[in-house]
Amino acid sequence: MKNKFNIPKALLINENIKDSRLFEQAFRHHCPAGGVIRTQSAQQGIEILSREKIDTVFIDYKLSINDLNFFREIQKINLYIPVIVIIEKGKEIDAAEAIKKGAFDYILKDADYMDSLPAALEGIQLSILKKEKDEELQRQSLLFKQIYRSQKWWQHIIDAITDYLFVINQDCRILRTNKAFADLFGREPADIIMKPYYELFGLEEPHEWCVMPKGKNDYCPRSVERELNNVVYLISCFPIYFDEHDAVVYILKDITETRRLKDQVYHLDKLSSLGTLTSGVAHEINNPLTGIIGYTEMLLMKNGDETTKKYLHNIYDSAIRCKRIVENMLTFSRQTPSQKGVEDINDIIDKTIELHEYWLKSTNIEIIRNYAEVPSVSVDRQQMQQVILNLLINAEQAIAEADRRGRIEFETAYDDNSKQTVITVSDNGKGIPQEILPRIFDPFFTTKPVNKGTGLGLSIAHGIIAEQGGAIEANSVPGEGTSFIIRLSQSK
Ligand SMILES: Nc1ncnc2c1ncn2[C@@H]1O[C@H](COP(=O)(O)OP(=O)(O)OP(=O)(O)O)[C@@H](O)[C@H]1O
Ligand SMILES: [Mg+2]
Repeated sequence: MKNKFNIPKALLINENIKDSRLFEQAFRHHCPAGGVIRTQSAQQGIEILSREKIDTVFIDYKLSINDLNFFREIQKINLYIPVIVIIEKGKEIDAAEAIKKGAFDYILKDADYMDSLPAALEGIQLSILKKEKDEELQRQSLLFKQIYRSQKWWQHIIDAITDYLFVINQDCRILRTNKAFADLFGREPADIIMKPYYELFGLEEPHEWCVMPKGKNDYCPRSVERELNNVVYLISCFPIYFDEHDAVVYILKDITETRRLKDQVYHLDKLSSLGTLTSGVAHEINNPLTGIIGYTEMLLMKNGDETTKKYLHNIYDSAIRCKRIVENMLTFSRQTPSQKGVEDINDIIDKTIELHEYWLKSTNIEIIRNYAEVPSVSVDRQQMQQVILNLLINAEQAIAEADRRGRIEFETAYDDNSKQTVITVSDNGKGIPQEILPRIFDPFFTTKPVNKGTGLGLSIAHGIIAEQGGAIEANSVPGEGTSFIIRLSQSK
């Protein structure tokens, strides 16, 4: 055996110094790059093993069983190391015993160890190589696990995003997607990988906003708003330049609700300018109306035939009615801070109904007044009118949707226990489904189309009543009607 071995560090446990020197010479001869640490007892050997990196151990068989059970100690420190026992010639029977205890191999003591050592070294060398290979495999498998976990982790991150995210290549084929995007089409992310994204939208070619940048300096539109399948999306595009694999990340954000709120605010803005305009117009109408009423009164005082007088009376009544409407409109649209006064609630309700009388008549809605003698309350008259008007308009709209002869009842009562005035406004409209009942007082909550409702009526009413120190609540039976109950404390 002429091969040289590469075993960096061996530990020799042997009492016989001369013998040890011989061994060391033989070891160096076969492993020129290696070294031998020598010790004379198994106990010391164990100590060395527990603090130094040793590649193999040679131990005199006698020592391995005398001082202490060397093999058991090695197992205790959990060391994987090939142990070679040195056996006296003629005592080969011990070798079998040693191997049973855990020895890797044995060599026979001879004059210079040159004969038996190479075969043992070859076995050790192979075992070291195998161990290194095993360790490499283990490292690789750990690395794969880490890569897999890291990929999963990124997928979890993009799946946690509820906006619709997909990554496409230059051919508009999907390279990656999050769960939300796949869910949008009732698919699993894995099912749509490498499919042209536009096919999911039922198209034969990409959308006009899907523009592939031709390089780092090419223009790529960042964000656009588009309606796709009745949903308004904010579509953002983020190009990726990665080696040869240019791709684009698209994120679609559902902004239907935001857009609706924006439209409502715009509508509200228009309404508020309309309010200013209305009060201006009302002022302008007031003056000529005063003239009409005055001159009609003068004409009525003069003698005339009965038919003329009847006509004049009609003109007078209508003009008075107009004046009342104008006055109500002025009270209503005047934007003054809350000014509480001691008010008769029945009168406030009456005035509000009057303001709306024309529409009530045209829709043939029956108004029932069920008033009790209630003590006056301390409220802002104009604001209370607004609350009643909001409830009245809601009732009217609910009746229109129920498609039946409408009836709105205004009831006032005094609750002796709580010492509160209770106003109940009931209608026989379409009612409110239980699931939306808790949300009707929320600002901007509406079930009506944009040009019909802003979703502010009830939230304003709620705010006003709360400011007056009262409470408002709603009861409804879907399909039958709704009641709003307002409780106000007595004026002090
Ligand atoms: N009397 C009612 N009958 C049935 N539903 C009602 C009634 N009152 C309110 N609602 C429901 O509550 C929602 C909120 O009412 P709210 O008055 O706050 O807003 P809106 O009437 O939709 O819009 P706005 O009053 O700003 O024009 C309505 O859209 C409707 O669905
Ligand atoms: Mg309303």
